[in-house]
Amino acid sequence: MASFLSFYCVTLIILAFTNLAPVMAAEELEVGGAAGWRLPGANETEMYSQWASTRRFLIGDSLSFEYKNDSVVVVDKWGYYHCNASHPISVYNTGNTIINLERPGPMYFVSGDHDHCKNGQRLLVEVNRVHQESPAPSPFSTSASSSIFSNLVFLYMILITASSIL
Ligand SMILES: *[C@@H]1O[C@H](CO)[C@@H](O)[C@H](O)[C@H]1NC(C)=O
Ligand SMILES: *[C@@H]1O[C@H](CO)[C@@H](O)[C@H](O)[C@H]1NC(C)=O
Ligand SMILES: *[C@@H]1O[C@H](CO)[C@@H](O)[C@H](O)[C@H]1NC(C)=O
Repeated sequence: MASFLSFYCVTLIILAFTNLAPVMAAEELEVGGAAGWRLPGANETEMYSQWASTRRFLIGDSLSFEYKNDSVVVVDKWGYYHCNASHPISVYNTGNTIINLERPGPMYFVSGDHDHCKNGQRLLVEVNRVHQESPAPSPFSTSASSSIFSNLVFLYMILITASSIL
């Protein structure tokens, strides 16, 4: 009976952690949301910094750029702040570009069109390691901790029941 019980407990503990898996799952983030990657209007020059400020970027996630007659240029910090794509790290112009976030730290993107960049078509993302704590907890971590909590409550009830039987 005791070995059955410990097997049960171990299984439940494993289940509790397996429920964490969706939290760690890599996400594909669509840059700009429905607007995609385009020249911002005169009244929305902050659209990409606003878009980035509402999200967390983790290693393993990817950015999806959707655009027409434009380009995505990965640049360094200097290129980003000067809207200068003349020393690109990489250049894409296929209309649909997926960038995998593989290293922690900042990544800089500009439109290859200098005027587009000057009008706000540039993006800075800070890539984080998965284990780093976010100052603003995401709704996912809340649901993960509540599922661990409910599993622990379940485990506790099993133990109470089992000890009354034994
Ligand atoms: C920006 O201006 C356009 C019209 O030029 C308008 O339709 C849109 O709602 C405005 N957006 C914001 C965020 O003010
Ligand atoms: C494509 O982009 C270039 C540079 O921004 C611009 O000169 C040209 O008019 C654009 N063409 C179309 C079809 O939008
Ligand atoms: C970009 O920087 C280079 C020097 O690295 C300079 O020659 C060029 O004129 C700059 N381009 C723009 C559009 O500012």
